[in-house]
Amino acid sequence: MVAESSSSQAISVTLRVWRQAGPDQPGRFVEYPARNLNSNMSFLEMLDVVNDELAVKGGEPIAFDNDCREGICGTCSLVINGKPHGPHRGVATCQTYLRSFHDGDVITVEPFRAKPFPVIKDLIVNRKAFDRIMQAGGFISVRTGSACDANAIPVPKDAADLAMDAAACIGCGACVAACKNASAMLFVGAKVSQLGLLPQGQPERDQRVRAMVKQMDAEGFGSCTNQYECSAVCPKLISHEFIARLNRDYLKAVIRSAFTPISANASSAAG
Ligand code: SF4
Ligand code: FES
Repeated sequence: MVAESSSSQAISVTLRVWRQAGPDQPGRFVEYPARNLNSNMSFLEMLDVVNDELAVKGGEPIAFDNDCREGICGTCSLVINGKPHGPHRGVATCQTYLRSFHDGDVITVEPFRAKPFPVIKDLIVNRKAFDRIMQAGGFISVRTGSACDANAIPVPKDAADLAMDAAACIGCGACVAACKNASAMLFVGAKVSQLGLLPQGQPERDQRVRAMVKQMDAEGFGSCTNQYECSAVCPKLISHEFIARLNRDYLKAVIRSAFTPISANASSAAG
């Protein structure tokens, strides 16, 4: 990695890209030259150029995920030189630029590697496990169109700030890819906290955390062993403090459930 300078220069690199035709196919690294590019070009734009050249030669373009290219949507998901999202802290793959590399570098590009994120093709992985965790409880039940004015519900400033920090999670999955246990606790911690910190999230708070943790376990994500690789690679700098918050919320919910009459538990599960 080099210090960034915005003055453009020509840069040539060699890419070692993971190619895999499908989920059950063997994969391998293939080298591609990327020559005389503008150093202010983004990493994904470089892949576009390589793909254009491949297409002209009748080759199969490299499959990779992307959408907004603004660090918002969470779809870009490359491991660059062994690091999810590449060399910079708090920066998504799509906002990584060639000026972060040296002329002549050999750059390894792989998909996120975690059992709950199976490879679909080349650099694209299936992250629907995150969707299923969200469907299990990552919402509040408010009738559409009948929510009261936001300013009518007082929210303490520190809670609002913390909820906003949690809401910055873009669901990219880099935290899982960086963790030796493929733990999703930073993602789940952010989503549970985002809602649990606000008054609107209180009615379903216990039910939400239990359901989301249950689904997280069912998807095969591992446990947190406090290495914090997750927050180190998170493009939105989500703090591992949210994992501690998740653990506390979960423990309280389980204890409260143990002391709740069975009939109340049954009706809450049915709702
Ligand atoms: S916590 Fe960070 S790394 Fe994990 S999904 Fe959210 S934004 Fe991505
Ligand atoms: S493409 Fe949307 S966050 Fe990178």
